[in-house]
Amino acid sequence: MTTGSTESLRERAAAALTAARLRTAALTDAVSDAELTAQHSPLMSPLVWDLAHIGNMEELWLLRNVAGREAMRPEIDPLYDAFEHPRAERPKLPLLGPAEARTYASEVRGRVFDLLERTPLEGTALLDSGYVFGMIAQHEQQHDETMLITHQLRSGAPVLAAPDPSPPRGPGPATSEVLVPGGPFTMGTSVEPWSLDNERPAHERDLAPFWIDTVPVTCAEFQEFIADDGYRERRWWAPEGWEQIRTHSIEAPLFWRKEGGQWLRRRFGVTERVPDEEPVLHVSWYEADAYARWADRRLPTEAEWEKAARFDPATGRSTRYPWGDADPTPEHANLGQRHLRPARAGSYPAGASALGVRQLIGDVWEWTASDFLPYPGFRAFPYREYSEVFFGPEHKVLRGGSFAVDPVACRGTFRNWDLPVRRQIFSGFRTARDA
Ligand code: AVJ
Ligand code: FE
Repeated sequence: MTTGSTESLRERAAAALTAARLRTAALTDAVSDAELTAQHSPLMSPLVWDLAHIGNMEELWLLRNVAGREAMRPEIDPLYDAFEHPRAERPKLPLLGPAEARTYASEVRGRVFDLLERTPLEGTALLDSGYVFGMIAQHEQQHDETMLITHQLRSGAPVLAAPDPSPPRGPGPATSEVLVPGGPFTMGTSVEPWSLDNERPAHERDLAPFWIDTVPVTCAEFQEFIADDGYRERRWWAPEGWEQIRTHSIEAPLFWRKEGGQWLRRRFGVTERVPDEEPVLHVSWYEADAYARWADRRLPTEAEWEKAARFDPATGRSTRYPWGDADPTPEHANLGQRHLRPARAGSYPAGASALGVRQLIGDVWEWTASDFLPYPGFRAFPYREYSEVFFGPEHKVLRGGSFAVDPVACRGTFRNWDLPVRRQIFSGFRTARDA
């Protein structure tokens, strides 16, 4: 988001909220009421929980906090507080039913639009640049990605469809890896108006030179690791990763199975051949880490990923996105659930970074070597439970965003995190090595 007049800020906030709600509606209208209230995986909430939680967060921050209104339904707050009940327990709660949840979320939204027309978008840290509206649009889009993960975990006939990405336009990358020069660069941001607390503040990092893959690791490359008994050789695995694959008999990415010598995968209810040229998806941090060690390489650190994505050697500055400062278009990246799969490796030449690294934004979230930690000078804003309570060595950072994330919740500084065992998320990776 680039700053502009108050009127265009209001329009941007309204457009971001509307886009999120259209996506939420598409994901929740695609299944029956019975499927909305069912639990498709113990890893996930019922979709009807996400729907009412989206409305509840919006009510809490925009109507109660900003506008000072009374709670519309005070009795439901504890049901939708993500910290009160783990996901596995949520189906047993007295949740709002599908019709009630839809009505509640749309009533909140109606009042929010009234508020957005009248409220000044300046004067407090929450309102400056329309931040709190942008935060709520990002929150809804994050849950829209979560709901798409629930769709991927659900069994039964397919209910979602989208066109495939077009084949790569323009020349493929000239080399398989890119040299990122050593030296300082600016990591994080102090100016991006809707950046979340963990992306702040901008600070300098000095890195040694390194090589990084031009594109994410593909399914074909990952199959070589499998064929070389990668899952059977302990030496490639971190001890906890080895433990996980042994305990759960993991031998391939989630949703893959081998039939008649051919790898197949299930994707949103359809079984298909694993596509060779697509970035590998649904791998844990441990699987990414093991592959990198097998390839005699390593995962990039989070700072290395960001330098490869944002550093422009011509100016010495860090850009908002790999391609520069302009907001993403469909020519730059595979974002926003336009497609329900990553695009082939080598796609989006217009989205390449100044150094020539491709597909850093969109397609697959990329695991990095780094733990999720605060930047120097971090301040929790506006609530500790977004980032601060998750800082520590138990969470690994993912960067770049998948095909499932909306542009509003994705940029060169955006940080995602998860447990290293997680593989239902839209996760892939690229590798690096010291120069
Ligand atoms: C940033 C994706 C890890 O889904 O747990 C949603 C985002 N925070 N509601 C998550 C979030 C509160 C968060 N991630
Ligand atoms: Fe949430």
